Amino acid sequence: MSTRNLGRSTFGDPKNAGNLLTLEEAGILLNEWVPNEKLRLHMKQVAANMKAWAIEKEGADEPTALKWELAGLLHDADWEKYPDDHCRVIVEELERRNIDPEVIHCIASHGPSVFGVEPVSKMDKMIYAIDELSGFIHAAALIRPTLYEGLEVKSVLKRLKTPSFAAQVSREDIQDAVSRIDIPLEELIQFIIDHQKKIS
Ligand SMILES: [Fe+2]
Repeated sequence: MSTRNLGRSTFGDPKNAGNLLTLEEAGILLNEWVPNEKLRLHMKQVAANMKAWAIEKEGADEPTALKWELAGLLHDADWEKYPDDHCRVIVEELERRNIDPEVIHCIASHGPSVFGVEPVSKMDKMIYAIDELSGFIHAAALIRPTLYEGLEVKSVLKRLKTPSFAAQVSREDIQDAVSRIDIPLEELIQFIIDHQKKIS
């Protein structure tokens, strides 16, 4: 069992439903906790993808879209300063701040094989699928002279089949994540390319 296994499956308090950080508050937390610009960019990209997915694909209203966005924005907030306790620290911080349990559960379930928390809601399942793919697609864009411009789904698929490329990204996790949602991998890759290329 990983030392990062959270050892529980419920998070936060149901009475805090609807209690969210503002984007400004989340931004302050990120700036304090995450000096690494690349990691902050990763979280902003995941947040943009999550927000766009909620609005465009799930028909989410504004408060719901903010939940998806916040989960994306904060999911790796403790990674840089607390690598051995990654996930536990941000989960406990959000519980201390009485944040909506759905947001906390979403963050806790963004890596089931590591944190031992199964994604349950659509938001949970999407952060799991978007997280690894987003980082992988960004890596695929960075090696191109034109970055995201002209980046095609088929070239991302080809790189996924090249184990040496972005070797730290688990193809198994990607496969597992996509198997839990009813969305073709190609469609999800295109969606992520389209939405995260605007984020810098
Ligand atoms: Fe991440």
